[in-house]
Amino acid sequence: EKGGYDHFMLKEIYEQPNAISDTYRGRMRVAEGIIKMAGIDDNLAKLLNAKRIIVIACGTSWHAGLVAEYIFEELVRIPVEVEYASEFRYRNPVIHQDDVVIAISQSGETADTMAAIKLAKENGAFVFGVCNVVGSSISRETHAGAYTHAGPEIGVASTKAFTTQITVLSLIALKLAERKGTISNSDFHYYLQELERIPEKVKKTLESNDHIKFIADTYKDAKNFLYLGRGYNFPVALEGALKLKEISYIHAEGYPAAEMKHGPIALIDEQMPVVVIATKKGHYEKVVSNIQEIKSRKGKIIGIVTEGDVTVKELADHVIEIPETEEFLTPLLATIPLQLLSYHIAVMLDKNVDQPRNLAKSVTVE
Ligand code: F6R
Repeated sequence: EKGGYDHFMLKEIYEQPNAISDTYRGRMRVAEGIIKMAGIDDNLAKLLNAKRIIVIACGTSWHAGLVAEYIFEELVRIPVEVEYASEFRYRNPVIHQDDVVIAISQSGETADTMAAIKLAKENGAFVFGVCNVVGSSISRETHAGAYTHAGPEIGVASTKAFTTQITVLSLIALKLAERKGTISNSDFHYYLQELERIPEKVKKTLESNDHIKFIADTYKDAKNFLYLGRGYNFPVALEGALKLKEISYIHAEGYPAAEMKHGPIALIDEQMPVVVIATKKGHYEKVVSNIQEIKSRKGKIIGIVTEGDVTVKELADHVIEIPETEEFLTPLLATIPLQLLSYHIAVMLDKNVDQPRNLAKSVTVE
């Protein structure tokens, strides 16, 4: 049932090209320039008139929500707030009738997310669900929704659920942006084409597996890791750090690269591997100067870079290349090497990759 892979996690990492295309297939018609999603089409006026979008989720799904914040604000120009469900539900939040709440949950069973949805509904908000498990409690509790078509995710560490959540949220943002006129028609068409090319590019990224394994072997004994990114890649840094923590039990922190100088830079020494997402379109020059700051303090730099990169290659100890894509789609590619890095480190440390200690696949306790 692991399809020849040693672990479900690795199988699910490799399933991502198909999981992403399964998620947009039947919804996105590139040649005609159409996105059809029943849950969106049936509630279009509500969504287009939303004064604000509040995303509620936990863990990796919360990271997908953060990516969505950047995408929605850029493409649709609707203000977005991303909330941990557990914080949102306990603080008497301000919710208006013209707020749209998007709840994201792979399992569709997370107790805090469920309670936050109920609270939002009681306050009159329209709640849209993005779940993977069909018929799950959250998918039934929400007013409307769109499933990710990732297929069953068995490994406790979420991988293909994350990239397919971003895919669904991108489709929704593109559809609303086109309707609102916040992006041009030609950009809309171009973005659809770029999204269609993502599965191919994920495949290409997976070809770095052996090189990533080598990097994993080099740093597997580190006690701490830092993950840095800016813009769309900031949530990717958070997600990379979470993946490492949960399956290898190595302490890791994700940070917005520019926040380094406000504290965490004090941690940097020759023992500290720093994974920096430094792709061409995401504030590249700024990230390069962050890399120089780390290098001058002797940190070990693992750069996630765009194919053909020259500058970071010269500064970093290692680089992992990903294909170029539209900036807002970069998380779908930049996440892949981070998943593989944490996977290989955990395997080398002999940890239980698919069922890490203290963790459950669906968190039904509060
Ligand atoms: C991390 C992970 C958890 C879940 C979180 C939310 O790899 O799996 O952080 O993302 O428990 O779960 P769902 O998405 O099922 O609500």
